[in-house]
Amino acid sequence: MQRTLVILKPDAIQRRLIGKIITRFEEKGLQIVGLKLMQMTEELARRNYVQHEGRDFYEPLIRYMTSSPVIALVLKGKEAIETTRKMAGFTFGTKAEPGTIRGDYAISNRFNLIHVSDSQEAAEREISLFFKKAEILEYKSADIAWVYDLSQGAAV
Ligand code: CMP
Repeated sequence: MQRTLVILKPDAIQRRLIGKIITRFEEKGLQIVGLKLMQMTEELARRNYVQHEGRDFYEPLIRYMTSSPVIALVLKGKEAIETTRKMAGFTFGTKAEPGTIRGDYAISNRFNLIHVSDSQEAAEREISLFFKKAEILEYKSADIAWVYDLSQGAAV
């Protein structure tokens, strides 16, 4: 099982898309193991996006991410990193495929509603920026046998 960080960006909160976006992850079968509504500080935004430092979109990105509250989520599941990346869709709203979150709800390059970790290394780094260990909860999902087929070929 993998863990990944998802951020619902300021435009997702302002556009009242929190429920729709989180529902998609829940319905996919991913487990929410961390969740918080928060105001990102400039320092946190800069650390989260350190790999983009120096790019022309970097400073506007920091202003955008700190302009209004965000929701940070830790999602757990099989291949959670690749799965959530596919569900988010291509970075730019205009280029994102219909059926993805950005493809269905975003049309801007910057205001693209959601951030998802893009690798195992990034997920670990980003989760530790946003969450203390005690804020990530281990608990059993009641429907895990149905989501993952734990029947080993036998009838459930
Ligand atoms: P995200 O997946 O969070 O990673 C970096 C973010 O920077 C990206 O989503 C967009 O919000 C923003 N971004 C990336 N490229 C551009 C660009 N060319 N113009 C404007 N914003 C961008």
